[in-house]
Amino acid sequence: MQALKNRIALVTGANKGIGFEIARQLGEEGIRILVGARDPHRGEAAAAELRSKGLAVRYVQIDLTDPVTISDAVADIEAHEKRLDILINNAAITSAGDGAPSAANIEAVRRTFDTNFFGTLAVTQSVLSLLSDRPQAVSSMSPADWALSPSLAIRIQSSVASGSSVIVLRKRL
Ligand SMILES: NC(=O)c1ccc[n+]([C@@H]2O[C@H](COP(=O)([O-])OP(=O)(O)OC[C@H]3O[C@@H](n4cnc5c(N)ncnc54)[C@H](OP(=O)(O)O)[C@@H]3O)[C@@H](O)[C@H]2O)c1
Repeated sequence: MQALKNRIALVTGANKGIGFEIARQLGEEGIRILVGARDPHRGEAAAAELRSKGLAVRYVQIDLTDPVTISDAVADIEAHEKRLDILINNAAITSAGDGAPSAANIEAVRRTFDTNFFGTLAVTQSVLSLLSDRPQAVSSMSPADWALSPSLAIRIQSSVASGSSVIVLRKRL
């Protein structure tokens, strides 16, 4: 973790759950955290909670399904931090009706793809220009999500997030 100090990390879907915990743990390591969340109230509340623990945190609105929020977030980070070192692709949805291919509702699968696949791809592509020379990117998405997106080859620093849900891919961006 020593190598991660003084770095800047964007965590998508950081207002709750695993994303919030990743943000908290990275913040505890001295990393500046950009709390990505689609809802300003939930995002600001999470950022405030992390700041109350003494962490360096700022809220950035980012909705994986809204290209305007993605480009605005990139412009905002460019203006404030000027770079990113770590991208945590955490945000995702589970759609009711998704399931086994034999029974899955097509619209539910489409919604899931729109967020988990195309949204994650859009965010990743959009922040590439911000990523420093030695970027780290992490996904906490489910294996199934990544099985569907082999082209999103991302180098993973597995130690920044624990648990079997973290898929370790060892290819460079
Ligand atoms: N929990 C598990 O057992 C488990 C297991 C394996 C993998 N994972 C993966 O770990 C990640 C987090 O899981 P979790 O359990 O912490 O999920 P969660 O509690 O449902 O949190 C999901 C986060 O993603 C955000 N999000 C959803 N759609 C978004 C969008 N369009 N744009 C931006 N943010 C969006 C949510 O924001 P809102 O609060 O606004 O909805 C929330 O912050 C997911 O990628 C999941 O696939 C989880």
